[in-house]
Amino acid sequence: EKGGHSSFMEKEILEQPHAIADTLLGRTDSDGALILDELNIDPERLKAIDKIIIVACGTAYYSGLTAKYAIEHWTRIQTEVELAHEFRYRDPVIGPNTLVVSMSQSGETMDTLMAVKHAKELGALTIAICNTYGATIPRESDGALYTHAGPEIAVASTKAFTSQIAACYLLGLYLSQLRGGTYADDARSIMTELSEVPAHVQTVLDGMDRVREIARFMADSRSVLFLGRHVQFPIALEGALKLKEIAYIHAEGFAAGELKHGPIALIEPGQPVFIIMPSHDTPHDLHAKVVSNIQEIRARGARTLVITEEGDEAVRPFADEVIEVPKTSMMMMPMLSIIPLQVFACELATAKGLDVDQPRNLAKSVTVE
Ligand code: F6R
Repeated sequence: EKGGHSSFMEKEILEQPHAIADTLLGRTDSDGALILDELNIDPERLKAIDKIIIVACGTAYYSGLTAKYAIEHWTRIQTEVELAHEFRYRDPVIGPNTLVVSMSQSGETMDTLMAVKHAKELGALTIAICNTYGATIPRESDGALYTHAGPEIAVASTKAFTSQIAACYLLGLYLSQLRGGTYADDARSIMTELSEVPAHVQTVLDGMDRVREIARFMADSRSVLFLGRHVQFPIALEGALKLKEIAYIHAEGFAAGELKHGPIALIEPGQPVFIIMPSHDTPHDLHAKVVSNIQEIRARGARTLVITEEGDEAVRPFADEVIEVPKTSMMMMPMLSIIPLQVFACELATAKGLDVDQPRNLAKSVTVE
């Protein structure tokens, strides 16, 4: 069933171009307008939404964090992202025009299910973004948007993550189209960018030899750090989670801007740090700011592994390794940049002789609180 691959995780990483394409399939009409009939929610109800809360756990939470940047930018609707188990047991502010979006590959995660039920009790409109047809969470929600990524078998989530980002972007664009906001006119060109993501992901996957080599060299690492900024910050968190889960290496993701507020104290000679660069089109010169961060940690002896868009000369003087992904717009970068980090974790864990599909102490679907 692994189709000749060494693990399901490896297979699922390689399936991402198809998985993302399937998430996007059939979502636009002949004029390029978004149609999300599958949601089964009265568009008038959606038009009135004034706040969005995304609830999820683990990798799904990080896909929500990523999507927040795009959704707020495109819709101008205030969007929060919260761990489902934290949301459930505090006292969140919910009104009739609050939309609670749950994100779950399995659709069975108890923490997420409890959050959805709570949101409904408080009167919120609920939408489930889910990969498993007919699962409990979409059944308990007012509407569902399926990622159509195909079954994910490996415990560590990969293709579900990139598909969740794509699905959440669809929802954001749809809301912006319905509300006729600033970005409604741009929705079509953004859809075009989105439709190019699968081919870009394939390009990234085709160029992973060096990343695999680096992973094998680093099999004895005791700690790996990940830095990202803006829409790439959640990618740093997700890259670290993959490494913890399957390679049992201490890994932490940071927002690059936070470095000087503490984490830079961790940098000592030889410390490997992945830096996930924002694209050059990210506003406020954030690209240049992160280049300065690389410079700062390199001066303190860090080994810098930089993931960036092709042709990025600015990072070269401070990078021990440059891992390039195709040039795209800032919001699409996360779906490309996570690929090398998934491959890295999978290859490193395999080099350590670990069972990447069944990491210790973890279950694919966490059906207890
Ligand atoms: C990470 C991982 C977990 C899940 C989390 C949520 O690789 O597999 O962190 O992402 O348990 O699971 P779902 O998406 O099924 O709700």
